[in-house]
Amino acid sequence: MKTASACLLLGATLVYGASIPRRDVLPVLGPDTVPGFKVLPKPLHSSLFDKEGKLQAVLSNPAGVALPVSSVPSIQVEPPKEFKDGIAKRKKIRYGPFRLPGTKETNWQSKAMGMGGMADEYLPNLTKPCTECMLASINADIEYANGTKTGSSAWLHHSVLVVAGPNVRDPICNASNTESIFSSGNERSTVRYSYQDDKIKAAYRLGPQDTITLVGEFKNELDTEQWIWLTVSYEYYDGPRPDWKNTHIAWLGFGKSSCNPNAPNPFGVSNVTATGVPKSLQFEEATMPWKSPVDATVLGVGGHLHDGGTEIDIYQNTKKVCEVIPTYGAGAGGMSHGDGEHIKSMTSCRLLTPLKAGDTFHLVAKYDLVKHPGGKTDSGELDEVMGVGTILFMTEPKVF
Ligand SMILES: *[C@@H]1O[C@H](CO)[C@@H](O)[C@H](O)[C@H]1NC(C)=O
Ligand SMILES: *[C@@H]1O[C@H](CO)[C@@H](O)[C@H](O)[C@H]1NC(C)=O
Ligand SMILES: *[C@@H]1O[C@H](CO)[C@@H](O)[C@H](O)[C@H]1NC(C)=O
Ligand SMILES: *[C@@H]1O[C@H](CO)[C@@H](O)[C@H](O)[C@H]1NC(C)=O
Repeated sequence: MKTASACLLLGATLVYGASIPRRDVLPVLGPDTVPGFKVLPKPLHSSLFDKEGKLQAVLSNPAGVALPVSSVPSIQVEPPKEFKDGIAKRKKIRYGPFRLPGTKETNWQSKAMGMGGMADEYLPNLTKPCTECMLASINADIEYANGTKTGSSAWLHHSVLVVAGPNVRDPICNASNTESIFSSGNERSTVRYSYQDDKIKAAYRLGPQDTITLVGEFKNELDTEQWIWLTVSYEYYDGPRPDWKNTHIAWLGFGKSSCNPNAPNPFGVSNVTATGVPKSLQFEEATMPWKSPVDATVLGVGGHLHDGGTEIDIYQNTKKVCEVIPTYGAGAGGMSHGDGEHIKSMTSCRLLTPLKAGDTFHLVAKYDLVKHPGGKTDSGELDEVMGVGTILFMTEPKVF
């Protein structure tokens, strides 16, 4: 049976980061280090890197085909929507264009995942919103050449942003100079890194040497090709702001621990297969715990489920600190490939609670595929599912 593995590998990307060895110089995204690299079939590997081993953009766009042109500006300065304090700035940046194959077209994704219409893109060194700044929020969407949103004709299956830089610390294992700072599926939630009150100012620190890599996957719903642009809207505070706290994000997900792949899951045998396919229609699945390497303040927690999910419980040590609840609605949207009701949105929890070095976090994702039928591959098999938790925490500026 062929199963969709893209989301699963996306999960691996988030939870494990790109395992780039720590080095004092600017990290290079090389053959062993591309996030989600394993999802690509071998014949594509050689096209990923130049002679020096540097990651090249990998696009689904066929060679030799003229790209559609757009008169919509690729950088749009907008009034802030999240942080309206008169100081934050907002830029919407369009990345692309990307060609989405028609759903009946054969490509490596349709063979590997059993799903037509998929396009996968790796784009290193994206245009940044600023040279050096504190990122306050990020939101992603997809639109056509004319700037109109694609609606249900094309789906934002996922988009992940990975920051790499000499001062970047992977907060999951403290083992690389990369950090996955953002992920969005079709629910297109805004991630907010900033917190401000009289005493605390915090946001995600983006340094002048830091680069951003996009790992994106988009899905066509039509049987004709379409060209789309990914838009990423950044809100940010310009400048280095050395006294601000640093916001980081730790990802929880199904599967092995990246820091210690041989460690058994303390919650027992997994209720999903190695590729994330449910073993039964109703189950709960707990993730490997993540242990915080530092003292910090938890800003908030959130989560991501596929259709069929009913709840995510997030625990700090043994205490449940949040119940993340999905809302279902009819029509296209959310993360699924079937018909009927889809997840439209997910709740999250603002916590502002202390976190001690050594504290652990894990989540328990609950699925009921009888109540909410999940996604299916083109051949009607159960699609893989995810249970992703995000822990946003603030550290002192120099901690990492
Ligand atoms: C990223 O792009 C910028 C601007 O195009 C360029 O100056 C810089 O050298 C690039 N960085 C890397 C690591 O490729
Ligand atoms: C924008 O482009 C899309 C795709 O080509 C098209 O369906 C839509 O009607 C266009 N919208 C406008 C306002 O021109
Ligand atoms: C799988 O389900 C069983 C029964 O509900 C549960 O005890 C176990 O902890 C679950 N496994 C994981 C890894 O969560
Ligand atoms: C992360 O690892 C570096 C060494 O590579 C070490 O100096 C630092 O203290 C570690 N940070 C944490 C928070 O464990």
